[in-house]
Amino acid sequence: RCKSTSTDEQPETRRNLLDNASNLLTNLLSGGSLGSMPVAEGAVSDLFGRPLFFSLYDWFLEHGPVYKLAFGPKAFVVVSDPIVAKHILRENAFSYDKGVLADILEPIMGKGLIPADLNTWKQRRRVIAPGFHALYLEAMVKVFVDCSERTILKFEKLLEGKGLGGEKPVELDLEAEFSSLALDIIGLGVFNYDFGSVTKESPIIKAVYGTLFEAEHRSTFYIPYWKVPLARWLVPRQLKFQNDLKTINDCLDGLIENAKETRLETDVEKLQQRDYLNLKDASLLRFLVDMRGADVDDRQLRDDLMTMLIAGHETTAAVLTWAVFLLAQHPLKMEKAQAEIDAVLGHERTTFDSLKKLEYLRLIVVETLRLYPQPPLLIRRSLRSDLLPGGYKGNKDGYAIPAGTDIFLSVYNLHRSPYFWDKPDEFEPERFLAQRKSESIEGWAGFDPLRSPGALYPNEIVSDFAFLPFGGGPRKCVGDQFALMESTVALAMLLQKFDVELKGSPESVELVTGATMHTKSGLWCKLKRRTSVH
Ligand code: HEM
Repeated sequence: RCKSTSTDEQPETRRNLLDNASNLLTNLLSGGSLGSMPVAEGAVSDLFGRPLFFSLYDWFLEHGPVYKLAFGPKAFVVVSDPIVAKHILRENAFSYDKGVLADILEPIMGKGLIPADLNTWKQRRRVIAPGFHALYLEAMVKVFVDCSERTILKFEKLLEGKGLGGEKPVELDLEAEFSSLALDIIGLGVFNYDFGSVTKESPIIKAVYGTLFEAEHRSTFYIPYWKVPLARWLVPRQLKFQNDLKTINDCLDGLIENAKETRLETDVEKLQQRDYLNLKDASLLRFLVDMRGADVDDRQLRDDLMTMLIAGHETTAAVLTWAVFLLAQHPLKMEKAQAEIDAVLGHERTTFDSLKKLEYLRLIVVETLRLYPQPPLLIRRSLRSDLLPGGYKGNKDGYAIPAGTDIFLSVYNLHRSPYFWDKPDEFEPERFLAQRKSESIEGWAGFDPLRSPGALYPNEIVSDFAFLPFGGGPRKCVGDQFALMESTVALAMLLQKFDVELKGSPESVELVTGATMHTKSGLWCKLKRRTSVH
C-alpha cells in the first residue's frame, strides 16, 4: 500500500542564520525591558547533567511563577502560573507563535499544524479538527483494541516460550513495546497504514525513529548547525536525516495518491451520513480526502500527516510508559485498577461503552500526564508587545514584554505547583474527583470537576488552566481524546492479562528529555500472566 513515488525535497527552512542573529539581538534588548520581573541566572552547567525543566522548577520555587531566565546574553520568560498561561494560550493567543520550536520542526513538518504560519494554521485547523469527531473516535477504539491485542499476543508467546505454562515472568522493555504499539495505532488511525512494528522491523519504521531522534537532537542542541549551507550533505547524521525524511515522505505520498485514486462516492456518502462503524477505512486521511474533494493540495496533506505521525506517537508511548512506572510503585492502586478492569471487562474486549465505565483507569492516565506532561514545556515567542498578568504571586500591574520575547510555559511546574495541588509529587489519581476552592488566589476560578459536564477526562477547563496536558486555547492538541482513549484502552488490556513489576529499583530508571520525557535505557519490567482474574 505504501508505494514509492518521486518527491521534491523539503524546502530550506525559511529563517536563516541572519534571522537567528536578529532574534538574539531582540532578546538582548528585551532582556533589559522586563521591568520588575524576578531574574534567575542560569549557568551553562544547568543545561547539562539533568533535564532543564528540573532547574526551571527549582527557580520557580525560588523566584515565583513568572521570572526571567538569563543565560548570558539570551533571556527567556518562564511562566508557571495558570492565569498567565491562560492569557498566553487563550486570551491573547494570536499575539504569539511557536518561536524556536517552529524553527526546529519546520524542516520535518513543513506547514503542518504545529509549526505552520498563522494563515495556513487557520485554514488547516478548520479542516482537520472536525476529523476527530465522536464517531471517528468510536471507530478508533476498535483500532486501539486490535493493535493492543497484537502486543498482548506477542507477550503471551514470549511467556509460553519460557515454559512452565507461562508461570515464569518474562523481562521486557515496556517503553520500546509501547513505542511500537503507538506507532502502529497512529499509522492506522491517521492514514490507514499498518507499520506492523509490534512484530517486525522495516526501513520505514527505522526512518520514523531516525526522524524522531533527529527532532529530539535538534530540540536539545543549542547551535543550529544544520542550517549551515551544505551541512545537510556533509554531516553524516544530517545526510541520514534527509534520507529518512525522504523514505517517510515517499510513503506518505503513496498513501495520499492511493487515497485519492480510491475515493469512492459511496464512502463519501457514508461519511456524510456518519456511518463510520461500517467503513473499512475510517482513517483521518480518508476523511480529509473524501470530505474535502480530490483537489486538496498533496504537499499540505503530507505535512499534515507527518505532523500527526510525530505529534501522536512518542507522546502516547510516554504516557503508557510512565503510567506503568507509577503503578508498579503503587501496588494498591494497581490492584484497584485491576479490580475495576475485572468488574467492567471481565474477560471481554474493551469497547467504546466499556471505556466510559473505566473511570479509575482514565484517572490514572490523566494523573500520569499531570506528573509527566508531554512535552514538559510549551514554547512561544511574542509577535508584538504585550502585558502579561502578574500572576497570583507576582507584580499586580503585570509585566510588559516586547515583541520577540521567548517564553517557556512550564507545564511541569504548573502540574507540580504546591500552590494548586496537595502533595503535588504524589501519584494520586483520586485527586481529580475532588473540588478545590480558590478564595486565596485572585483570578483563578479553582478546580471543579463539574465545570466540564460530559467530558470523559479532566481538562484545562475544569482546572482553569492549572492542568494543561494538551495545552489550551486555539492551539490545543487536536488529538487529545484520541490519545487519552488510546492510552486507557492499551493500559486496561495490559493489566487485564498481566501483573507487572519493575525489574530494577525505580531510581535506576533514569529520565531524559527531548520533546518528551522518556527513560535513558528503557522501562525494564517483569511480566507475569495474571492468575486471579475475578
Ligand atoms: C498539539 C500534547 C497526542 C496531534 C499538542 C499540544 C500538546 C500536545 C501539549 C500543544 C502544543 C502547544 O501549544 O505548543 C499531546 C499529548 C499527546 C498528544 C500529551 C498524547 C498523550 C496527539 C495525537 C495527535 C496529536 C495522538 C494526532 C493524532 C497534535 C497536533 C497539534 C498538537 C496536530 C498541533 C495543534 C495546533 O497547533 O493546532 N499536543 N498530544 N497529538 N497535537 Fe498533541
